[in-house]
Amino acid sequence: MPKTTLLPLLASGDFCSGQALADALGVSRTAVWKQLNALADYGLEIETVKGRGYRIPGGIDLLNEARVRASLTPQAAGLLASLQLLDTVDSTNAEAMRQAGAGATAGLVCSAEQQSAGRGRRGRTWVSPFARNLYVSVVWEFHQGAAALEGLSLAVGVAVARALAAHKLPPVQLKWPNDVIYQGAKLGGVLLEMTGDAAGACQVIVGVGLNVAMPGAAAAAIDQAWTDIETLGAGAHPGRNTLLAALLNELLPLLAGFEQQGFAPWREQWLELDAFAGEPVVLHTGAGDTAGIARGVDDRGALQLETTVGVQSIYGGEISLRRAQ
Ligand code: BTN
Repeated sequence: MPKTTLLPLLASGDFCSGQALADALGVSRTAVWKQLNALADYGLEIETVKGRGYRIPGGIDLLNEARVRASLTPQAAGLLASLQLLDTVDSTNAEAMRQAGAGATAGLVCSAEQQSAGRGRRGRTWVSPFARNLYVSVVWEFHQGAAALEGLSLAVGVAVARALAAHKLPPVQLKWPNDVIYQGAKLGGVLLEMTGDAAGACQVIVGVGLNVAMPGAAAAAIDQAWTDIETLGAGAHPGRNTLLAALLNELLPLLAGFEQQGFAPWREQWLELDAFAGEPVVLHTGAGDTAGIARGVDDRGALQLETTVGVQSIYGGEISLRRAQ
């Protein structure tokens, strides 16, 4: 059942009678009842009160194309080729990748209420409950291969931080290579995937996941300290449509300029947001652990790890960084 039929009628959180729902949808009350039951698949609670009807307690903040577009800057609107807001998908990155393979051009944005197989870095799952968080993937085209993409995922982290700051949310920090964190807990992450010629024309899928109002039940599946925008904003936030537009307002111009400019213009901002600057850290790689002091990043986005044998430049990949215990 697409949410576009029943859910908008209940999104306000007000009661709606079975008959009113049936009339609005032009279906029988039995069909309405079946659809209401199906909403359980989305993990949504439907309250039923005799004589008043049905409601979603607290309402639900659905993605809405017109509302996203209304908050875009002229520059972002000009760079946006198409905006796809899906109900549920395996992964917005996987969907964007499929569309890139089928010829989608730069500026295609794919977002969804829910991901059934949201992908995180290092083979992890990205917990993606329905209509609570943001899952966004942007397709962009690059012409000079993978080398021109160095530092892009770090710059995307800066773009996320700027988008939140634009809405007066408290400042977040970045953990190399691309975690967005607040008070030591993970708020969001970035996953870049590429298709095409690694040495020439390629398409990059820039995936951003941002926890907005993570329900406790879904959070039980997260295996690290997490937080969400609702916590940052002490219960208040501008809503997912405004936040999605804010992200695109930063991401699309970043992508449009990145091949020419590279990471260098973003480095200073990244360093200001660096959560581990000057701190003892341990770098975990497939080959083992390396202890050192985090000394920021260079112009290419490589972590500068000060070790007993000197400063090493560490490039991204299947690597994670932790504060030393
Ligand atoms: C990380 O592990 O920190 C990266 C998480 C990236 C999650 C986002 S959600 C939108 C896009 N689609 C996916 O399947 N993953 C990315």
